[in-house]
Amino acid sequence: MPFRTIIEPFRIKSVEAIPFTTRVTREVRLREAGYNVFQLHAEDVLIDLLTDSGTGAMSSAQWGALMQGDESYAGSRSFYRFRDVVSTLTGLRHIIPTHQGRAAERILFHAILSPGDIVPNNSHFDTTRANIEVEGAEALDLVIAEGRQPATIHPFKGNVDLERLEALLASEGDRVPLVMVTVTNNSGGGQPVSLANLRAVRALCDRFQKPLFLDACRFAENAWFIKTREPEFATWTPKAIAQAMFSLADGCTMSAKKDGLANIGGFLALNNDEWADRCREALILTEGFPTYGGLAGYDLEAIARGLEEVVEEPYLHYRIRSTAYLGESLVRSGVPIIQPPGGHAIYIDARALLPHIPPLQYPGIALVNALYIEGGVRGVEIGTLMFGRHPDGSETPGTMDLVRLAIPRRVYTQSHIDYVAEVVAAVAATASSLRGYRVVQAPATLRHFTARLEPL
Ligand SMILES: Cc1ncc(COP(=O)(O)O)c(C=O)c1O
Repeated sequence: MPFRTIIEPFRIKSVEAIPFTTRVTREVRLREAGYNVFQLHAEDVLIDLLTDSGTGAMSSAQWGALMQGDESYAGSRSFYRFRDVVSTLTGLRHIIPTHQGRAAERILFHAILSPGDIVPNNSHFDTTRANIEVEGAEALDLVIAEGRQPATIHPFKGNVDLERLEALLASEGDRVPLVMVTVTNNSGGGQPVSLANLRAVRALCDRFQKPLFLDACRFAENAWFIKTREPEFATWTPKAIAQAMFSLADGCTMSAKKDGLANIGGFLALNNDEWADRCREALILTEGFPTYGGLAGYDLEAIARGLEEVVEEPYLHYRIRSTAYLGESLVRSGVPIIQPPGGHAIYIDARALLPHIPPLQYPGIALVNALYIEGGVRGVEIGTLMFGRHPDGSETPGTMDLVRLAIPRRVYTQSHIDYVAEVVAAVAATASSLRGYRVVQAPATLRHFTARLEPL
């Protein structure tokens, strides 16, 4: 196209009104919510950037496909359509539907892990880590050093540190039943993994005879980064790149709430017949029969169609560009973010923006709450409130204090994003007046969801 503007590659034929609130109402609602945006009613939020998971807009083709759902308990037509799309994409033999990504993780890890095992990954997502640890195994993060430095620019900050992986497999290989790679690396800022790095991980897995599994939640966004940043693949279609990524893997876990473009769903796919038998047994216990796995026939239809749409070039071009667009606007306003922008979210460095608020007074929470009060924008703290408390009750600063603004797929237009950028800039301009918080009530684990706080 000869024009600069990258447009939303869709027309909007159904809309949902978003509720406007006054600043005074938002102050009341936030106080009632214990200064924790997880406790707000969604209808009190104007622009909701809490997560990109399950919050996307389905296409008219997906809504149409819902009516084709075959709700037969066993052998439903919708399962075979879903299976065919997933196996064309992944090339994997056994396709096991689950109600969302963490169910695939739980079933896989329960089937194959033993206490004392180690599962390396670039960075484990929190549910992946928890499902490994609950089996008595260790979840080890081996992302490259650049992936841990917010301001360092690198095209593939999600890459696996190959030297550390090789050293692990050489010294403790007996304890490693599988190697995982998360594409894109959510816990590291939505950063991609190159195909060269995946190939090198595969070569190590071959040398040490280990299966390689992808945490494939954002495989299509990762494929787009490969296309635009790895010259060898510049002329490939995103689908062909995704197929090349999956061809290196022996299996994957997937949350269809991300790059399945669906509101619910997931799957586990793998080649190992014996592991697949064990996983299907567990599936029947907790999810359902292997041809629906916790989903309705219409969900399987929506996911099948979503997996076809998500690798379309105009969609991915718009998707990755619109995330970068928000990041660039914030940088222009002097707001420090994790660089370069990731695929699904922008991560603001709240510790750098609010240096006067010590980590144990939760600068991320101060910023999240200010964004809500200022403009009705909901983000999420990824910092000391989320990670700072230890099982013995002690508290130390999280590694970073970030605020994630995750962008739901196909939901908000460029003017919504312009509005968000304005709100962040307005808050940043008064940053020195923001105050920290203290926790007044919190459960022992996963406190960030339900903690009640008060301003200092
Ligand atoms: C990288 C990654 N893996 C796994 C999951 C878990 O998926 P679900 O929320 O569908 O259980 C998520 C969800 O955010 C994720 O980002």
